[in-house]
Order: sequence, then C-alpha cells, then structure tokens
Amino acid sequence: MGKDTVTIKNNATGQELEIPLMRGTHGPATIDIGNLYSKLGIFTFDNGFKSTASCRSKITFIDGEEGVLLYRGYPIEQLAEKSNFLEVCYLLYYGELPTQDEYENFSRLITRHSMINEGMRSFYDGFWHNAHPMAIMVGVVGALSAFYHDSLEINNPRHQEISAYRLIAKLPTIAAASYKYSIGQPMVYPRNKMSYAENFLHMMFSVPAEDYVVNPLHAKALDLLFILHADHEQNASTSTVRLAGSSEANPFAAVSAGVGALWGPAHGGANEAVIKMLNEIGEVSAIPKFIERAKDKNDTFRLMGFGHRVYKSYDPRAKIIRKTAHDILATTSGNDKMLDIAMKLEEIALKDEYFIQRKLYPNVDFYSGIIYKAIKVPTNMYTVLFAIARTIGWITQWKEMISDPERVIGRPRQLYIGAEKRDYAPIASRK
Ligand code: CMC
Repeated sequence: MGKDTVTIKNNATGQELEIPLMRGTHGPATIDIGNLYSKLGIFTFDNGFKSTASCRSKITFIDGEEGVLLYRGYPIEQLAEKSNFLEVCYLLYYGELPTQDEYENFSRLITRHSMINEGMRSFYDGFWHNAHPMAIMVGVVGALSAFYHDSLEINNPRHQEISAYRLIAKLPTIAAASYKYSIGQPMVYPRNKMSYAENFLHMMFSVPAEDYVVNPLHAKALDLLFILHADHEQNASTSTVRLAGSSEANPFAAVSAGVGALWGPAHGGANEAVIKMLNEIGEVSAIPKFIERAKDKNDTFRLMGFGHRVYKSYDPRAKIIRKTAHDILATTSGNDKMLDIAMKLEEIALKDEYFIQRKLYPNVDFYSGIIYKAIKVPTNMYTVLFAIARTIGWITQWKEMISDPERVIGRPRQLYIGAEKRDYAPIASRK
C-alpha cells in the first residue's frame, strides 16, 4: 500500500501540495481540496459534480457499481419488505429505528399536523385552473413560511423538528389539493384514522357526495414507493435544498427550491416522461425504432427511465418495484399493453451493446409511473408524489447541514471564459 495521501503539483510554478485521503464508512476515499486555492492558487473543475463530495453525511449510502442503497445503514430491500413509510421517516430524521412508543408518538404528531391553515386554501384560486400541480407545489410549499413563522429559528432543534413534522404532514394535503383544484373538485380534508398513504389516496379520490373506500393494495404500493423515494443522498434536488439552506434561508424556502429542482425530466420528472414515452412507442413492434433514436447522437430522444449518474448497475429500487408493478397490474385490466411495452423495451435495451457499454439500466422512474397509472394517479401528479416522498430526505439533509459545526455558505467558484476586461463605450459610438 502506498501513502494515504495524494500529491498535487502545479507544473507551472513547481509548487506541490500533499493532501491526506479522508475515509468514510463505505465508499471511495476522498481528498479535501478546500485549501488548494490558498496553497497553489488553482481551482478544480468538475462539471456536474462527477467526482466531488459536497458534504459529509451520515444519512444515506449508495454503491452505484454494486447497486446498493442504505438508509442509515439499513438495506433498502429490508426496509421495503419490513418497514413502512412513517417508520422510515423516523429512521431517516432521527438516525435510529423507533421503539413502539416512539413510533406511535411520531405517527400521532405527523397525523395531527396534516391540516393546512385555512388561509392557504385561497391561494389555489389564484392559480390558473390548468396549472401543472408541480407549479402549484413550488408556490404553496414556499408559502408555508408565511403561515408557520412561529418555528423558523433555524438553529433551534425544536423549531427544526416542528418544521420537519409540518412538511412531512402537510405535503400530501397540499399535493392532493393541487389536484382537486385542477379538476374543479372541492379540497378534501385529511382523516386522522388513516395511514399516511391511505390518507393521500382519500384526499385525492374521495368526493363529499359519495363514500370512498381506499384499495389496500393501492395504499400498500404507494407506501412502498414512498419508502423507495425517501432519500437518495446528494442528488440535484437535495443538493439544491442544502445550498439554499446554507444561506440560512428557512427550511420551507429551501424545500420549495428542492421541489423546483426535482421537477425536471432528468430528475423527478422522469416518471411522467416514461409514461409519455411508452404511449408514444404505442406498440411492441415500434420499440426497435425508438431504441435506434435513443442511440442516435443527432436525436435528442433518450430512453426515459434509463441511466443514472450514480448507478452503473441495476437500480435496486427498480428491482423492488418491478415486482410490485407486476402484482398491481395482475389485479387491473387495460394496462397490460403498457407493461408489455415496458418489459420488452427493458429486455431489448439490456441486450443492446450501446446500453451495455454505457451501463444504462432501468432506474426507479421506469416502473413507478406504471404503478401510479395502474392506481389511477393522473400523469401530471407523478412528480408530485416523488416530492411528497422526498420531503423527508430533504428536511433530514437540511437538518444535518444546518447542524454541522463546520457549516459555511455553499459558494462554488468558476472558470471564467467571457470577454476580457474592456471599457464602456457610449451608446452613440457603438456599431
Ligand atoms: N438513453 C440513451 N442514452 C443515454 C441515456 C438514455 N436514457 N442516458 C445516458 N445516455 C448516454 C449518453 O448519451 C452518453 O453517451 P455518450 O457517452 O456516447 O455521450 C452516456 O450514456 C452517459 O450519459 P450522461 O448524460 O453523461 O450521464 P449522466 O450521468 O450525466 O446522466 C441521467 C444521468 C439520469 C441524467 C441520464 O441517464 C438520463 O438523461 N436518463 C433519462 C432520464 C431519467 O430517467 N432520469 C431519472 C434519473 S433516476 C431518478 C432521479 O434521480 O430522479
């Protein structure tokens, strides 16, 4: 074994800097380049943060080569099989699985925070009736700080906790209200006797005029999807939450920034894009044409739900929900064609040299959209469901960031490639 350091040399000046390797519990060694500029006068450039750890974290670990995902050390497969979403929320936020008493107390508190201030309801009238629910989410989640400013002292652990409870509890209510508004139905209030997933389905699909019975299979599938989406270390939206929060903005503002970052099709918007793509493909026989398009560098088309910045093997979350997608579809009718297309697409892509070489496997979004469709969630709500589940990850990561004694504002540098310094010319003299 060589020395546990890396030496960086600036060949232009001959200066050298020996940097010790930092070791985490799992994962590759990391070098702290924080004093590179002060010692050698150079920056590092890492487009898209492909080799950069932006923080120390104890929350979630991913091994992208092996397809491993751990929340607080627990494998996602075990949590998916044995736990439930609220227990996973407790685990992520507090770092340990709860005792029975702790679990009951936590569930009770989350349930009791699920109503939103009545004043917030009037917000919805201000949105255009056709607004995308994610557009409404960005606005209403940010507006929580206008209603709950009794708990915005960011360094106060009790305030951090109450804000976390409010976010976890109110997101489903805000989300379901966005949907109800978009279809012209009255907002449905939460029911405390229901589980987290049941309650969301109830607020989405019940109407005052009729009784509504939640399908337990749908609630179970939704709870599973919430578990699988709960956290994923320093992805684009989580990094956004941390960066926004590092300026000491309040947690509601930071999380609403995360909702915005999640929306794009390269991140949380991919589940919606997968369904659009499967519809566009339309027939199993059309798959080869779309595979060719995905491989064509002159075509912007990509196979949605394929590829991942970190996973260079099968996304472990996709493995778990692949089976659930089958189970759910076995109980419904009319959706099998879409699953057939998805299965065939997966089969063909996994055998194709282009996808093998680039290690492009189906990701979590490939199957989640199919499950949402089967349980009758409208397509424009898929990313909203991702946001509900990821809220616990965002707020836990925010708390870890804000509680870090070494916390500083996030402020990247740049490689400036613009115009050289020049003088202002009066408008009359410009050509
Ligand atoms: N279809 C076709 N080619 C692809 C795809 C795809 N889905 N994904 C990557 N590639 C190719 C890409 O063209 C490039 O090829 P080459 O080396 O010849 O230039 C190579 O694979 C590497 O791609 P990249 O864009 O450099 O990889 P990245 O790590 O920057 O991007 C990604 C990761 C997820 C943005 C990308 O794979 C993608 O756009 N996938 C489709 C969208 C999607 O499913 N997103 C959900 C991500 S998982 C859930 C979440 O985190 O929200």
